[in-house]
Parts: sequence; structure tokens; C-alpha cells
Amino acid sequence: MLLTDTQRDMLDGKYGKGKAMAARILTAVGESFRAVRLVPVTRVHVSLSAQGADIWFAEKMVQAGAVCAVAPTVNPGYSVCYFKSRSMLSPDAEENMKRTEDAYRSLGASLTYSCTPYLNENIPIRGEITAFSETSATIFVNSVIGAKTNRESAATALCAAITGFTPEYGMLLDDNRFADTAVYVEADMRDDFSYSLLGMMGKKIGKGIPVFLNLPVDPTTEQLIALGTQLNVSGSYEMFHIPGITPGSPTPEAASGYKPPRHTVTITQQDLDGLREDYAASNKTPAEFVMLGCPHYTYEQVLKVNEFMKSRLAVIPVWILTSRHVITLARSLGVYDELKRKNVQMIADTCIDESPVWGFLSGKTGLSDSPKCAYYMASFQAHINVMSTECCLEHAVKGGT
Ligand code: F3S
Repeated sequence: MLLTDTQRDMLDGKYGKGKAMAARILTAVGESFRAVRLVPVTRVHVSLSAQGADIWFAEKMVQAGAVCAVAPTVNPGYSVCYFKSRSMLSPDAEENMKRTEDAYRSLGASLTYSCTPYLNENIPIRGEITAFSETSATIFVNSVIGAKTNRESAATALCAAITGFTPEYGMLLDDNRFADTAVYVEADMRDDFSYSLLGMMGKKIGKGIPVFLNLPVDPTTEQLIALGTQLNVSGSYEMFHIPGITPGSPTPEAASGYKPPRHTVTITQQDLDGLREDYAASNKTPAEFVMLGCPHYTYEQVLKVNEFMKSRLAVIPVWILTSRHVITLARSLGVYDELKRKNVQMIADTCIDESPVWGFLSGKTGLSDSPKCAYYMASFQAHINVMSTECCLEHAVKGGT
């Protein structure tokens, strides 16, 4: 790779052992992807977790004296405050989250603990070169904001934050960002859940960068989040295009770089209904809880739940995972307390993929509007019935049946 004098000095240890280690990792990654150079990043998001390997890596960087050149935001782990106050936290789990927090604080991270940083805490601009990990975030940043990021791991994103550089390959290069698969959507995209179902069509869409055609002209932020998130459950996607939404793609032709698509796929009403039926067929009853907020709920989604629950009471617990920012807003406007009276609890800083706090749900059945939630909770043997938000709440009011 062609390195600048500063980058060479960094590799040689002039800026400390920690930066040298991070630079070595990034140049190795760059060489494996045939990157020609390292380019500066101005924003980073790290998909932190309070799990063994991540703690080991972050602490290793701290021991080597690393400090971030670009302060990254971080993914959720779990809220010690919430779970400890309810006696739901083992001493080991508390210690792990504390070690995580201590390590990232020493590295100079911004401890936001949210998986939707692009909405409030860390918002890139169009064309900005960033290093985001967290698959639901990277696809949103590329596809909706028009900033550039590869699908970083927690480790490579942290190295980018420490050095201020990232290898230039993949999604950082304009030529790689065009759509190669035309996806005609011939289905009624009536609600947010329809976008989650569309995202779960990865097997039919196949590999590549899809451009979605025939979608309603004004999908909401929440629908775009749902689409991108679930595409990375059913497949592996760095980016999608929606003409008129994706920056630089005003038309289908522009989205595909004025080249014919390699593949054309049609997603039909039957496809989406078939998936709804598959989910319904795998439902188990009674459900004992509802888990919403994977990815973290926006304030609008919280308001929607509040509106639905207006004169109702959930008989089984309903948890909404969200950011501190949204909780602060909900508290100050009385929504947090209103929901609590309805047996709906908002929780900050927390990811569903954290068995130390959610392990007690093992063997139980819950409800969620997110296939991603179902995917991760299966890893600790919790079964999730996937359905629309409204259906989840209906069941919660009826006691999970
Ligand atoms: Fe967010 Fe964790 Fe789901 S990071 S997207 S709540 S798996």
C-alpha cells in the first residue's frame, strides 16, 4: 500500500504502540482487499459488546496506550443501572459491562450505547468517509445518507477511530456503489412490517446491490431502517438504492450507473404474504413477553406504541429498547411514565443480543416486530413469534394468546 509519511511513522511506532498495532491491522485488512491507500475518516461507530473477545481487544488497545483520533460512538451493551436495580444482573455480568465501559472511556469513545447513531448522536453527511460497524447502521449510512462506509467489524472500526484512517476499498470507491440488481416490488407496502418482510427477501434478491423499484415515493425513516436491517438478516448487503431517496440516485438508471442490471427480480404480494404465513405457522403460544427496538426504536415508534396503548394495559411485559436520547425526550414529555403505567418499559443502552441480561428468557416464547430480534434471541433458546408491532401489542393486551 502507498502510505503517507505520517502513516509510516504511525506503523513504526512514532505515535505509540497502540496506534502502531491499529495501523498494522488496518494495513493488513487493506492489503487483503487490494486497497491502494489508507484514507482519513471523520466519523466512526463501533459495534461494541460486553462479550469476551471485544473486551479483550479493547483492553489490549488500552494497555498499549491507544487513544482515539476520532471519538467513535458505540453500540449498546446493557444497562447496569436498569438490570441491577431489578436484581437481574450477576456480579460477572456487571463486571464485564464495567470493564467494557472503562476500556472504551479510556480510549476516548463517546459512550452513546445506541445502534441508531445516525439519527442523533453521529450523523454523517453525504459523501463523508466513515468507518461504521453494526450492519443495520452501515447499510443506512450508505443507502439513505449517502456517506461511505464498509461493513466494519468492531475491531476494524475501533482501529479506524484510533488511527483516524481506513483502507480505501469496497464501498469507499464510487464505482463499487452502483446497483446491479433491479428489484421490482409488486406488493402493498402498507406498513413498517411490510418493509421488514421485504428485507427478509435476501434469498430471492441474491448477492449484490439492489435497487428497489415501484416502492411508495415517501417511505419513512423507520421503514428504511427496517428494510436495511432485515436485508442483513436474510443476506449480506452493504447498500441498496431507492431512486429519489438514495443520494446520487434520482432515477433507476442513475442508481445502476447507466448500465443494465445483471439481475432482475420481482417481489410479489404472494412472497410477502407467504413469509407472513410462515411466521404465523411457527408461532408458539402463549407468549410471555414482547421485545421491541431491534434496532433501537425511534421516538416516532415509541409514540406509535403509546398511541396504541392509550386505553389498554399490557398483561405481559413489553420492553422497548431505545437510545438515551429517545428516553430523555420521552421522560420530559411524560410518555415514559404513561407507557410504564401500561406495563411498557423503555430501556436504554441495551441490545437484545446480550445473554447475560436476557438469558432468563431462555426456553420462553416472546413476540417481536423484528426478524433480527428473533434471529439473535434464538441463540439463547428464546423463541420469538414475528409479527407487526400492532399485532405484538394486541397479543400483549390479551395476555400473550
Ligand atoms: Fe441493535 Fe442489538 Fe438489535 S445492536 S439492531 S438491538 S441486535
